[in-house]
Amino acid sequence: MLSREDNELLTRVDRGTPMGNAMRRYWIPALLAWELPAPDCPPVRVKLLGEELVAFRDTQNRIGLIEEHCPHRRASLFFGRNEECGLRCAYHGWKFDVDGRCVDMMNEPEHLHFKEKISVTSYPTVEVGGLIWAYLGSPDGRPPLPNFAWTQAPETHRHVSKVVQETNWLQGLEGGVDTSHAPILHRVLKADSKRPGFKPTHPFVRSKAPTLVVDVTSYGYQYASVRPLDEATVHIRTYQLVLPFHQIRPSQSEGGHALVSGHIWVPMDDESTMVYNWDYSETAPLTDDDRLERRLGNGPLDVDQSTFRSVRNKRNNYMLDRQVQKTESFTGIEGVNVQDRAIQESMGPIVDRTREHLGPADKAVIQARRLLLEAVKTVRDGRTPRGVDGTYYALRAVEGVLPKDADWRQALTPEMAATRFEQTV
Ligand code: FES
Ligand SMILES: [Fe+2]
Repeated sequence: MLSREDNELLTRVDRGTPMGNAMRRYWIPALLAWELPAPDCPPVRVKLLGEELVAFRDTQNRIGLIEEHCPHRRASLFFGRNEECGLRCAYHGWKFDVDGRCVDMMNEPEHLHFKEKISVTSYPTVEVGGLIWAYLGSPDGRPPLPNFAWTQAPETHRHVSKVVQETNWLQGLEGGVDTSHAPILHRVLKADSKRPGFKPTHPFVRSKAPTLVVDVTSYGYQYASVRPLDEATVHIRTYQLVLPFHQIRPSQSEGGHALVSGHIWVPMDDESTMVYNWDYSETAPLTDDDRLERRLGNGPLDVDQSTFRSVRNKRNNYMLDRQVQKTESFTGIEGVNVQDRAIQESMGPIVDRTREHLGPADKAVIQARRLLLEAVKTVRDGRTPRGVDGTYYALRAVEGVLPKDADWRQALTPEMAATRFEQTV
């Protein structure tokens, strides 16, 4: 449970809010690099932390991320023309370069030099790992590059997608650090089921309720779920939380080899989130099938690739099939992350955390909130919060079955991620 004040503090991200100030200390994914495929391509709308922006790639391949509304009379620059090194408003022809400077005005005499007095907000960007990241904070606080291990894998070995979630960002993140729901919400009921999810044979499902171990680190935390499997063994799965909104977890390719995967819950505004989904393999290229993300429901067959809205959404009850729910899967909803979005959106746009009843299974959720509150206070005091420096660069996440008394922190190595489980998601 949280007080009303703390719930507000953690969930509101507009410019000037305490959490908004904290988030503006980090590099933030703004869009997929392929959305701006070539110099002078069409501009793209971007909503980040409540700010309406437009992104474009100029003639010299530089990326501009500037406020969406033209400072003349507020027309959207999304309708603008991406011309020779600048984006020109379609209404009266004011033109802006990637730094936000007004470089031309078609409706004012040149000799007035009016353009020299006009500029729009612009934010620095970097292209890392198939994403364009933006920095919305003060110029002197720009952090080291967001070189997560997954961003450094060759393009053939990594994949990233995105999908809109119709809730506050924290609801998504809390779902991502909540291991206890996974073998319940995502369970399939029969061992021979073709539906995505955890089968009855998976150690996740066969084992007993988990104990959570949370190790706070310089970037956030690592946490492990420890699930007794039988007299002699336990199933262990580790997750990483990198502040403010990155999850890293073990997973598997369609062909069954080990991957590391994760989500990034980027606030568009207080009630909508762009969820980035990434996977990478350290050993083999990803296949076309992997890139469809059918099990998760995040790929091009399930998500409109211009609006990034899910085909299965709250307006159609996520295409819930009650017969399937009775006989084949716990939810009757297809796609593991569709199930997550359905449940998290069902909690309301910003869940009322004053009305929760948290137990030991929610330990990682509770610790995430503590660290986020700490980050807010740290930034408020003018200091640097966890997760800004590069201590997260090499992180991975693994799972495995170990003898009951094994020291899992020592025994769980990246090689253990190669342990094959049926449909780890
Ligand atoms: S509104 Fe953009 S030039 Fe007039
Ligand atoms: Fe889930």
